[in-house]
Amino acid sequence: RSVAVIGAPFSKGQKCQGVEHGPPAIRNAGLIKRLSSIGCNVYDVGDLHFAQVPNDKLYNNTVKYPRTVGLACQVLADEVSRVLEAGHICVTLGGDHSLALGTISGHAHHCSDLCVIWVDAHADINTPLTTSSGNLHGQPVSFLLRELQDKVPLIPGFSWIKPCISSLDIVYIGLRDLDAAEQFILKKYDITYYSMRQIDCIGIQKVMERSFEQLLGRRQRPIHLSFDIDAFDPSLAAATGTPVIGGLTYREGIYITEEIHNTGMLSALDLVEVNPNLGATSYEVKATTNLAVDVIASSLGQTRECTQTNIDELP
Ligand code: ARG
Ligand code: MN
Ligand code: MN
Ligand code: MN
Repeated sequence: RSVAVIGAPFSKGQKCQGVEHGPPAIRNAGLIKRLSSIGCNVYDVGDLHFAQVPNDKLYNNTVKYPRTVGLACQVLADEVSRVLEAGHICVTLGGDHSLALGTISGHAHHCSDLCVIWVDAHADINTPLTTSSGNLHGQPVSFLLRELQDKVPLIPGFSWIKPCISSLDIVYIGLRDLDAAEQFILKKYDITYYSMRQIDCIGIQKVMERSFEQLLGRRQRPIHLSFDIDAFDPSLAAATGTPVIGGLTYREGIYITEEIHNTGMLSALDLVEVNPNLGATSYEVKATTNLAVDVIASSLGQTRECTQTNIDELP
């Protein structure tokens, strides 16, 4: 397995300082070593540089930094398609979740047949017209879905984006904090989501089974996993900007990524919203960054069982 790691120290899709320090924090928790130790060939791209566009005025009096976010995502999209073209699995370290607009666009540029598993407390599917926060990390999916395009205005900085997925090509896992308009969109466009309630009802095993049935049942296709660390319960991932109580357990989160690895179809992964400036203690920050490393390693083949089989007999 050959894995490229891209640092995307980007924070203008939301308002909390510090999420731009996610990539070094996740690296310092030992990501590269861990990936090497499970047999990955790691190509570390390093951290991208994102320029802030001057005079980046609000769109429609609400949407913040549209040109800055649009440009950063464009730079990131190019890098993602470049490393995929070179044959790597692409791991992007965020940064806030607006950058999924870039990673998924870049992924789709390389292979148009991709599907998306979005693990998050939030659906991030507000449009520039429905958002109440104005933060673009709450909106990336709206720009990507073909069916939604007559509801999504053209905003400055976003003219390069082509909607590249259909509503049947995405599955959400872990939702528990939806805005009214987001709930309406999910229902109206018949988008599959497994909320925390649904996970409580049927269990994470059935959730994964049904997700793969929908996404991979007819044909094998590349998977884009977009993993927001706030999908986990805040007791596990405190260092994040929009924590919501009642999230995934460690075991549910790791089961999701193990199952995705087992499909053999993982092609790109985003690990976003780790903010080392948040979290009440350094212990909480460490716990969050260690968790991020576990999610990535587990997506790339780390197991909870020893898989070594080259022993025939005990001495
Ligand atoms: N729904 C809220 C909004 O539109 C919260 C989004 C949180 N998104 C995230 N990537 N953490 O602002
Ligand atoms: Mn800082
Ligand atoms: Mn979230
Ligand atoms: Mn998110």
